[in-house]
Amino acid sequence: MTLLEVDNVSHWYGTKAQRPVLDHVNLSLGTGETVALVGESGCGKSTLGRLVAGLTTSTLGTIRHDGREVARLSRAEHKIWRRSVQLIHQDPFGALNPGVRIGSTLGTALRYHKLVDRAHLEQELLGLLGQVGLEATRDFLHRYPHELSGGQRQRVCIARAVSLRPKLVVADEVTSMLDVSMRVSVLDLLRSFQVQRSIAFLFISHDLGVVRYFAAGGRVVVMFYGVIVEEGPTEEVIFHPRHPYTALLLESIPIPDPTLARREHGSVDTVPDAGPSPQGCVFSNRCRFAVDRCRTTTPKLEDDGHGHRAACFFIERVVRETTTSAVTDRAPDLDSGATCDPSTAGTQA
Ligand SMILES: Nc1ncnc2c1ncn2[C@@H]1O[C@H](COP(=O)(O)OP(=O)(O)O)[C@@H](O)[C@H]1O
Ligand SMILES: [Mg+2]
Repeated sequence: MTLLEVDNVSHWYGTKAQRPVLDHVNLSLGTGETVALVGESGCGKSTLGRLVAGLTTSTLGTIRHDGREVARLSRAEHKIWRRSVQLIHQDPFGALNPGVRIGSTLGTALRYHKLVDRAHLEQELLGLLGQVGLEATRDFLHRYPHELSGGQRQRVCIARAVSLRPKLVVADEVTSMLDVSMRVSVLDLLRSFQVQRSIAFLFISHDLGVVRYFAAGGRVVVMFYGVIVEEGPTEEVIFHPRHPYTALLLESIPIPDPTLARREHGSVDTVPDAGPSPQGCVFSNRCRFAVDRCRTTTPKLEDDGHGHRAACFFIERVVRETTTSAVTDRAPDLDSGATCDPSTAGTQA
């Protein structure tokens, strides 16, 4: 069943004279499904995440949850909906009130939504700490955020989100501020909730290695300047990209073996870091395949018949000319530095 539908959503922060931050975005998520949203910094990922979590209202378009338009829910329905969609973001320190003890942070949300009575609160909180791999003690509940490590704080944020029994979690760059050593365990923790509780995830990341790990078996949506340029099953998108932007991202993965020289085009070094094209295909300013038509006509997302869609006039050429061997030989792992920021490709997020 479709849990979330983002239907033709566009969003502007400033005036409509400027380019929208999100441009006719369509996205759907089924119950328990994982969809990863990737794209470089500033392309609109967090904006979409906030719209989906109800923290921002879209300028145009509709968001439906369980088939119902969120903007038309009654107050009571809205409260229930807000509980069923939780956002975890990248900065676990900013997400926790520094003056509030961990127990109080976790307890307030539970009490507000009447998910536990006062008599059972402490027991519930200790159980929660255990579930997210934290020390399940009263002492821990009495600590303040500054007394915890980044990884522990992120686990507290995860505990708060899952304690509210959400149907959908928007996870926005949840590991990007953590040490590499902690990333896998935090991702595994989220995945365990996803599997055990059938929670759907909109998993936002600029790091393809992290996406491949977390969204294995799910779907990936690739966004460039507010436009979805490709989407499909995770492994299809990562191993058989159909859009030049996705191909570029994958070819940007650094290859440590110096005998495997990078191809001349497709290397991040040779592609100018131009912004979006004001007309036609949003990627045409940076695209190695672009011809005049791409600068005047906007390609639509075209389905390959198996749910793998790309918006490009040259899909066949992209498929033919993308050296996926470099990618498949060195599949992005969590330390690959496979980031969506060509300017920082090769560095650790
Ligand atoms: N509250 C805001 N007010 C004005 N502009 C914003 C605001 N939030 C984000 N933006 C702008 O919208 C664009 C998309 O931002 P964001 O959604 O944060 O992208 P991402 O998460 O992909 O880095 C950026 O150009 C950013 O500067
Ligand atoms: Mg962001």
